[in-house]
Amino acid sequence: MNDAALRSRPVEALTEEEAAEELAALAAEIAHHDRAYHERDAPEITDAEYDALVRRNRAIEARFPELIREDSPSRRVGAPAAEGFAPFRHGVPMLSLDNVFDAAGFAEFCARIRRFLGLREEVLRFVGEPKIDGLSVNLLYEEGRFVRGGTRGDGLVGEDVTQNLLTLRGLPQRLGGRAPARIEIRGEVFMEKADFLAFNAEQARRLEAGERGVRVFANPRNAAAGSLRQLDPRVTAQRPLKLFAYAMGAASEQPAATHEEWLERLRGWGFAVNPLSRVLETEQEAAAFQAEMAERRAALPYDIDGVVYKLDRLDWQARLGFVGRAPRWAVAWKFPAEQATTRLLRIEIQVGRTGALTPRAVMEPVNVGGVVVQHATLHNEDEIARKDIRVGDTVVLQRAGDVIPQIVGVVREKRPPDAVPFAFPETCPACGSHAVRPPGEVVRRCTGGLTCPAQAVERLIHFVSRRAMDIEGLGAERIQLLHDLGWLRAPADIFRLPAREAELAALEGWGTLSARNLVRAIEARRQVPLDRFIFALGIRRIGEANARLLARHYHTLEEWRERMLAARVIGSEAREELGSIQGIGPAIAQELVEFFAEPRNLAALDALAREVRVLPVDSAAPADSPFAGRSIVFTGTLETMTRPEAEALAERLGAKVTKSVSRKTDFVVIGADAGSKAAKAAELGLRTLTEAEWREMAGLA
Ligand code: IVH
Repeated sequence: MNDAALRSRPVEALTEEEAAEELAALAAEIAHHDRAYHERDAPEITDAEYDALVRRNRAIEARFPELIREDSPSRRVGAPAAEGFAPFRHGVPMLSLDNVFDAAGFAEFCARIRRFLGLREEVLRFVGEPKIDGLSVNLLYEEGRFVRGGTRGDGLVGEDVTQNLLTLRGLPQRLGGRAPARIEIRGEVFMEKADFLAFNAEQARRLEAGERGVRVFANPRNAAAGSLRQLDPRVTAQRPLKLFAYAMGAASEQPAATHEEWLERLRGWGFAVNPLSRVLETEQEAAAFQAEMAERRAALPYDIDGVVYKLDRLDWQARLGFVGRAPRWAVAWKFPAEQATTRLLRIEIQVGRTGALTPRAVMEPVNVGGVVVQHATLHNEDEIARKDIRVGDTVVLQRAGDVIPQIVGVVREKRPPDAVPFAFPETCPACGSHAVRPPGEVVRRCTGGLTCPAQAVERLIHFVSRRAMDIEGLGAERIQLLHDLGWLRAPADIFRLPAREAELAALEGWGTLSARNLVRAIEARRQVPLDRFIFALGIRRIGEANARLLARHYHTLEEWRERMLAARVIGSEAREELGSIQGIGPAIAQELVEFFAEPRNLAALDALAREVRVLPVDSAAPADSPFAGRSIVFTGTLETMTRPEAEALAERLGAKVTKSVSRKTDFVVIGADAGSKAAKAAELGLRTLTEAEWREMAGLA
């Protein structure tokens, strides 16, 4: 299919092969336009056309993450070279392998070897090795010591990831025994399936908790690649990466005569070599080995997508050489894709511990490559819409990278006439609170954090934790127990526990003393400073630092509550004020507003406020500070101190530092080259200070 015809197809309709073809074309085309724009200043297409190319590329990559190219435009964007890795030039190129898919393809591969070498009677001896789906690396050893290692990159030059490779326990720093003066050893870095699932679950948890820069990976291969390409080796060190060695690159002397011997040498030097690798005396043995590996595949601890067959004699390998980017002496015999079709019975919405709503497909159970599958994640609402998945549809299921079942698409011809597009709920199925989706995010979240049963236990654990309300004697297990008993639903319930002292004492494993200690600990916390109180509420993105900013700005619970309610209106003065607090960005403001927009949260907050006394936070300013309780804006460049320094000082002196000038601003400090803020201050007739005046009032002069 030509480019234009391909380009007009919906992304959902592309086969994997077409997608790969189009990604290659897009990479070249976008690179061309980048050069035209940046280097020659002579764009050939409009910005909108350019954006359309980039979007198309991104959409295809989102559907086929495993096809993302080394030279993908999405990788180039925002990836400054200075921050990346040094180039790693391979001694001899790192190539890929040609694929065959059946016995006929393999026989053709053998026939080509015979033709090329002019063989007749000789048997072809092979070594079969499971083809692990990871990423290949090249390891340079000199005088038996590991000196450097790199990724494959474009085959000629990869990235120098030496520091990261050094964290791999399976990588020998020194080759045990005699070794050539200089040798490149090649192998596959990968993550085992179980390690991947555990690692990814943790990533998902962190992502859900709102942590920045955390990624969830589509499969073990991507996770391994992402882990090895970390800029900070300490991060790589924590990832469960493994290595199997299997090939040789440039070498100062030939350390073996056959591939079998070569694998022996690798073992002797201390490398892990795949224990399933097997010598096959004749080419006829390959089919049985292939069938055996296909059979064992599901039970292996790591993903394999086929078997690599390598001609055993290295002298023959040398004569055969390469054609294009692949050797003539080796081939990858791939397994057929593990797909199956089944019917989608319903879409369930699960509520995570931090309120994320995740859709899950429930299907008629079906066997996909040896594993019975009945559930698949649908990721998020966009995914359902993009693939137009409807309840009742016949869906095509695939086990991606062997582990996680995925719905690849639907069989449109089999759609029941009454099937309707899935309406993603806008309220939480666990508690009925609003479920909102912040602009630019894909995840919809329940906003009823304080009362939602799906989140209650997590929230309560946070609420009593040391840095929040600091209630001793109320660990996670006890909270779970009291929650299950129905005594603890929302934070205010904690302060009603003292009334149940006798009942607590009667619980198994508690006793009078333990109940009394808990009651004391609770009573001791009936007074709490506003910043701790805000932090304890567990509002997303409101950590200790932001809680402190809010408490310092609003001083009292009543004021904060009132201003947050008023800030629900976009464009309101209260909303502007919130946004102008130094350190409180729009995303944080949004979370606060959403928290207050949910009546259940307000009820829980008010119930809590009836139980505890929330102490006002004053700015801890010296009593005589002229800035105590006043708001201040800095604009322009200060000569004698940096902006952050000045702002910190103002805060220490009890001022509220804000970013924008409004009628409520008390002081505007005007530095050099001040712009519109100075003009606005003049317009509103506000009190302005020069840098010298500010210093004097701050007691510095
Ligand atoms: S040999 C010239 N052996 O498959 C020989 N590759 O499609 C090239 N792979 O880039 C590599 N297991 O990432 C070889 N036992 C194995 C392998 C293997 C996995 C990967 C490797 C390579 C890709 C080629």
